[in-house]
Order: sequence, then structure tokens, then C-alpha cells
Amino acid sequence: MAGPLLRMDAIEKSFGAIRALKGVSLALERGEALALVGDNAAGKSTLMKVLSGAVIPDRGRIFLEGKPVAFRDPQDARRLGIEMVYQDLSLCDSVDVGKNLFLGREPVRRIAGIPVLDDAVLYRRTAEMLAGLDIQVASVRLPVRLLSGGQRQAIAIARAVSFQPRILILDEPTAALAVKEVEKVLALAQRLKGQGVAIILITHRLQDIFRVCDRVMVMFEGENVAERSIAETTLEEVVRLIVRAA
Ligand SMILES: Nc1ncnc2c1ncn2[C@@H]1O[C@H](COP(=O)(O)OP(=O)(O)O)[C@@H](O)[C@H]1O
Ligand SMILES: [Mg+2]
Repeated sequence: MAGPLLRMDAIEKSFGAIRALKGVSLALERGEALALVGDNAAGKSTLMKVLSGAVIPDRGRIFLEGKPVAFRDPQDARRLGIEMVYQDLSLCDSVDVGKNLFLGREPVRRIAGIPVLDDAVLYRRTAEMLAGLDIQVASVRLPVRLLSGGQRQAIAIARAVSFQPRILILDEPTAALAVKEVEKVLALAQRLKGQGVAIILITHRLQDIFRVCDRVMVMFEGENVAERSIAETTLEEVVRLIVRAA
């Protein structure tokens, strides 16, 4: 098929006097893993919120498989196969693993015509989904606040994956994790990429992009300042691009 899976073209967004995005363009191929890097406040999260429908851009266009699209909210983006896992995860802490995965779309069955929650199906499907992604938790009935940071991140990713996205955006998925947990989350991202999901990974852990990503895009003060194929760059060069010391 001709053309990229996704193209964002000259996206602009201001918050009051702050010009968070000053005309940023981005392309993503099918099944590609793109790293999005840059200093704090460079505009990475805002750009991805535009892509996931959480922020409405002031200007600019988005094309999916060459067709112009516009998102009014995250549901619009979800319908077209775009999911974002936020830095703060948006899980319900007091709710268990299974109910977090199925939040807002709990399976129901009917007893004498009256719909009742079908917990047996919910927990069985949760266990199947987690097994399919090689995610381990002690129990699908554990409130997520009792999980480790890495497990919580994995559950948030599993929830996003359950919508069968074509594009999965991960915003700093390893920022708050212990080293061993970082490995698991990276392995999960790699597995999803292997399944054909295109991934956009925002991270400050630059060593990770060399393991998971095909390409890196560098943002600086609301602009896309560089793009490199991972095979053709080095950690040192990416650092230089980020701080613009080159
Ligand atoms: N909802 C918002 N309201 C006001 N300013 C915002 C909002 N979201 C982001 N910003 C500002 O936009 C700029 C870019 O932020 P952000 O996209 O979060 O950067 P990054 O993810 O690269 O750290 C920052 O100056 C930030 O303070
Ligand atoms: Mg951010």
C-alpha cells in the first residue's frame, strides 16, 4: 500500500501565550516503532494528545492511510485504531485488574431478561488477555493499587491493546519503574510491535529507543528539529540533538 499509515501535518497548538506546538509534522509507517524524544516541555505529550483526540489542535491536519481525519475526543481516535497510554496511567486504583481492563464495557448476561454483570466472563477474558501478552499478576481480582509500578504500566498497556489499536502511543512508560520492570515493559512493547502494531514511544531513557525503535524524532520547543533512523545514529548524537549542542 502506498504512503505512510499516519501523517500529521503542520500541527499547531497554543495554551494561552504558550506555543506548545509550532507546526509539527510526523509520519509513521505500518508496524513501525518511532521514538519521540526531547527536553521537558518540548511538546511531545501535547503532540501525542492531538493524535489521540485528547487535545484539539489550533491548526494542522492528520491523515490516516492517506485519508484526512479529525478527532473531537479520544473515542474518535479509538474508533480509528489509535490508543494512548498516559504518563499517569488513568487506572482506577481501588478497582481490581479485571474491572480496570473492562472499565465501561463490562460483560453482561441476562437473567430473566435483566442484564447483570458477568464477572465469570470478565475475569476469564482478563486472564486470557494477560496470558496472551505474557503479563503476570498474582490475581486478576487484586486492586491495581496493590500492584508494582511495572505491573500497573502493563495493565494500562493491556487495556489499550484490548481495543486492538493500529497505533499505540506510550508516554514515558518506564519513567517510574525499577530496572527489572523496565525490561518487562520494553519486552511487551517489542512483542506488540512484532504483532504489527505501530508504536510511538516517548521516553527519556534513550538507551531504550535503540532496543525497541526503528526511528527517532527529536522535538525542541514545539518543533520537530531532527529525525534519524536508529540504525544510522548513536546515543551521543541523539543527546546532542536534544540539547541542540550540535
Ligand atoms: N493543558 C495545558 N495547559 C497549559 N499549558 C500546557 C498544557 N499542556 C501542555 N502545556 C504546556 O505546553 C508545553 C509543552 O508541554 P508538553 O507537551 O507536556 O511537553 P513534553 O511532553 O515534551 O514535556 C509546556 O510548556 C507545557 O507547560
Ligand atoms: Mg510529556
